[in-house]
Amino acid sequence: MSEILEALLHRRAIKAFEQVEIPHVLREQILDAARHAPSSFNMQPYRLFWVESSTRRATAAKLCLGQMPAATASALVVAVADIGSFAATSQAQVEWMRRSGFSDAEIRDYERTAKIGRILFMPGPFGIFGAVKWAIFRLVNVCKIMGMPPVFRQDVLKWATKSTSLACENLMIAAEALGLNTCPMEGFDGRRLCKFLGLSTRHHEIVMVIAIGKKSPAYEGAPQWRRPLDATVTVL
Ligand SMILES: Cc1cc2nc3c(=O)[nH]c(=O)nc-3n(C[C@H](O)[C@H](O)[C@H](O)COP(=O)(O)O)c2cc1C
Repeated sequence: MSEILEALLHRRAIKAFEQVEIPHVLREQILDAARHAPSSFNMQPYRLFWVESSTRRATAAKLCLGQMPAATASALVVAVADIGSFAATSQAQVEWMRRSGFSDAEIRDYERTAKIGRILFMPGPFGIFGAVKWAIFRLVNVCKIMGMPPVFRQDVLKWATKSTSLACENLMIAAEALGLNTCPMEGFDGRRLCKFLGLSTRHHEIVMVIAIGKKSPAYEGAPQWRRPLDATVTVL
């Protein structure tokens, strides 16, 4: 079996970790794998907070409702959907394109698309622009096949959440492949955790917290159960 498949099939949500320090080199590899996940329009609309210092980790674990995986992990990764970084991301991509020798026409093309994207994804004050966009797109959709862009702030956050979740899965598989274990968690006090990390309520939403560490030798999880393939898959 390929190493990737092995990591994928062996990964379990581990609820108790033993105290080990995660070497910096592993941390970088895990985070690097996360950011290699695909993302919508390659906008990478997320920010990952790696919480490892003992005091901050203890506070974050408390805000994860004191759950055992959080309390015993070597590090906690708070994965945040970030819809406030579009301009900075496209600017960074333009700079990278310049450095990488893209032609002026290609760069202009990208800048134009990025600008349209930013306008399309902007909900505007009180969601007014979002409502106008929704009405226009809905009308056009009556006679034309088209995808509906996210219009309201909640839609944009949902859009960002999809890409964030893919980064999370990459991160967990990478950790597994490097001999570590993880537990994704959505049991946390989002409001307090946002405040703790200094996040903006306008642009950020915590998608999940991932506990990372080395499985405690004393921990024995229940066997893994999944619905049969035909309950989750439809082949047409
Ligand atoms: C989005 C998400 C949220 C989760 N939240 C928690 C949680 O708050 N606490 C916890 O112990 N496990 C949590 N889990 C882990 C699941 O319980 C676990 O993945 C599931 O039972 C399947 O087990 P397995 O991952 O070992 O196959 C979460 C998993 C996901 C994907």
